[in-house]
Amino acid sequence: MGIGKLVKYEALHSNPIVFEKAPVLKGKWYDFFKNQHPIILELACGKGDYTLGMARLFPDKNFIGVDIKGNRIWSSARITVLENLQNVAFIRDQIDKINEYFLPGDIEEIWITFSDPFPKNADHRRRLTSKKFLSVYKQVIKKGGLIHLKTDSDILYNYTKQVLADFPSVIFKDYDDVYGMDKNEELFGIQTYYEKMHLNESRTIKYLCFTLS
Ligand SMILES: C[S@@+](CC[C@H](N)C(=O)[O-])C[C@H]1O[C@@H](n2cnc3c(N)ncnc32)[C@H](O)[C@@H]1O
Repeated sequence: MGIGKLVKYEALHSNPIVFEKAPVLKGKWYDFFKNQHPIILELACGKGDYTLGMARLFPDKNFIGVDIKGNRIWSSARITVLENLQNVAFIRDQIDKINEYFLPGDIEEIWITFSDPFPKNADHRRRLTSKKFLSVYKQVIKKGGLIHLKTDSDILYNYTKQVLADFPSVIFKDYDDVYGMDKNEELFGIQTYYEKMHLNESRTIKYLCFTLS
């Protein structure tokens, strides 16, 4: 039998690297990490595959995964503690609240990994690359900081390019087929839980890298 929801909830709640709807470290993240290393966010992190994968590859950078679903970040928060990774934290909250957690310029880079495409046009403001969300990212990311979007969704990929055409920004990389273009290693060879599911269904993975100006 799997671990019960209540046990997971308690474990998440008492895990000192998880901040649940509590922006208590605004302006104090460097004290928490005990270093001045750059901070990179993974938004819609789910099980935090990029957060953990990059944290192992880059011990001289700090990584914070953000998601609203506690049971998804529970396992990665547990792995972080088991592996004694000192450069990882998680925030359980709504992504449009990240400006409550960070000061302007605190964030070096942002990864958005397989966020929900919200296919109905009427829902487009809920997409994590809508103007509303980009405006929030702009408040916390440093000038010139890279934003990475990885998705299987044509809708989200094309929508993001449309939004960026109208939002002060520069697109540096635009891969419409990460695997067909042999770019997987460039993206650290990390595959998220959802990415693996999409690949099993032979879906094409897309990637955009851009800055907001
Ligand atoms: C499709 S899953 C992808 C998870 C993971 N990145 C992966 O690739 O396996 C999308 C995740 O985004 C989270 N999410 C969607 N909108 C959110 C929001 N506004 N704030 C916080 N989390 C959000 C959901 O809880 C979910 O875990």
